[in-house]
Amino acid sequence: MGDRLNGFVSKICDGYIEKNKFDPEIYEKFRVHRGLRNPDGSGVLAGVTRVGSVQGAIMVDGDRVPVEGKLFYRGIEIRDLIKGFMNEERFGFAETIYLILIGNLPTKEQLNEFSSLLDDLRQLPDGFTEDMILKAPSKDIMNKIARSMLALYSYDDNPDGCSAENLIRQSLELIARIPTIVGHAYAVKRHYYDNESLILHRPQKGLALAEDLLQMLRPDGYFTNDEARMLDLCLVLHAEHGGGNNSAFATRVLSSSGTDTYSALAAAIGSLKGPRHGGANNKVIAMLRDIMENVKDWQDQDELKAYLAKLIRKEAGDRSGLIYGMGHAVYTLSDPRALVLKEFARKLASARALLAEFELIEAIEMLTPGVFAQVKNDTKIISANVDMYSGFVYSMLNIPPELYTPMFAISRMVGWCSHRIEETLFGGRIIRPAYRPITKEREYIPLADRG
Ligand code: COA
Repeated sequence: MGDRLNGFVSKICDGYIEKNKFDPEIYEKFRVHRGLRNPDGSGVLAGVTRVGSVQGAIMVDGDRVPVEGKLFYRGIEIRDLIKGFMNEERFGFAETIYLILIGNLPTKEQLNEFSSLLDDLRQLPDGFTEDMILKAPSKDIMNKIARSMLALYSYDDNPDGCSAENLIRQSLELIARIPTIVGHAYAVKRHYYDNESLILHRPQKGLALAEDLLQMLRPDGYFTNDEARMLDLCLVLHAEHGGGNNSAFATRVLSSSGTDTYSALAAAIGSLKGPRHGGANNKVIAMLRDIMENVKDWQDQDELKAYLAKLIRKEAGDRSGLIYGMGHAVYTLSDPRALVLKEFARKLASARALLAEFELIEAIEMLTPGVFAQVKNDTKIISANVDMYSGFVYSMLNIPPELYTPMFAISRMVGWCSHRIEETLFGGRIIRPAYRPITKEREYIPLADRG
């Protein structure tokens, strides 16, 4: 069957691209906001949100002026939030979840009650791991998470309810359960696809989510406090990124149709998996390996620049033309998350004798803007985004590459749920943009008359 299908497909594909492609200038002709972007590069305004805010430029006398990036969760700058819990030597992710989902910072009592509730919710429904993860493994953990989202519909007594109470109840369950899903999906993947023994750790009470995640992911369950704090910081940094980012917008598009929580979140996970979105953290590491193999002297800036130019010209690497970890749809001069992670990455790298690798990433960060401007003849300002350093940090935590994007998903579940609640309760209209048809009308030709 495979051969017949492939033969049919290759016949059909002969000339398919030529017949169906269109000149990119058509976008300008019809003033299409390609990628839902305005001519100045800003996003087309599609709604309002109280959840999060991403700033990369300001308007001065009608012009968009690039500025250092800022990220706010419910109005609070991410750097202030991080300083707050780090100065008190606390884990910060539970507080971040409360802030983003509920809308304000919790008091000490509220935070304790909330953390203990999340603890109780981490267990998956009875039989879920056996029926949905063990019996239907996937090589790709993001794929397994998406399928688990859809499967959880059947374990919910009120899956379709759209009251605030029901949506918040579902959100809390999903935020608490997704680390367990990832932990179990990874253990099962190792067993079925990597020939390893099957070791499933249950979630443990009394641990911060980052600690619990590490104990579930590691076959021996062992982790250090420093490792858990680093992972906690990564979770805080990835939790939310405004309503227009691809996966939050996907959540909003599906939610605006009135569909159920599980369908909307499965779509968000599918979106995050893409290499232009959350999948980039994995791609950065693959790109680094490729550069290490093909650039003889990493410290030779000219050799590195020449290779970066080859990557952009699609002559090397994965031939996508992208320098992963660079550029952003909103940020211009800097991505605040990348700045925070870079500092921690530097410290971790020097403690682990990996400074040469760190310096290579830093060199890519510094050299790419000039090479990009030269090769693409484009004035767009690009800087390192969060993914430039997140994969490197995860690698230093001994987290394998196939888990980098799932780590992002565990954290971003918070933002997605908050956007779903806002869209469902207050959006009020199905999201429905337009596509201009460019095929001329034609007559239907009876079968016997077709040549
Ligand atoms: N490397 C090479 N080219 C890049 C680039 C990069 N890192 N970032 C943007 N470009 C190119 C785009 O492909 C586009 O080229 P084209 O006009 O020939 O199609 C041009 O620059 C303008 O891009 P722009 O529209 O301003 O960017 P975007 O908003 O569409 O894309 C990203 C934003 C993040 C998707 C893009 O920068 C990217 O793909 N980066 C690499 C992947 C990545 O790190 N993603 C993680 C994001 S947190």
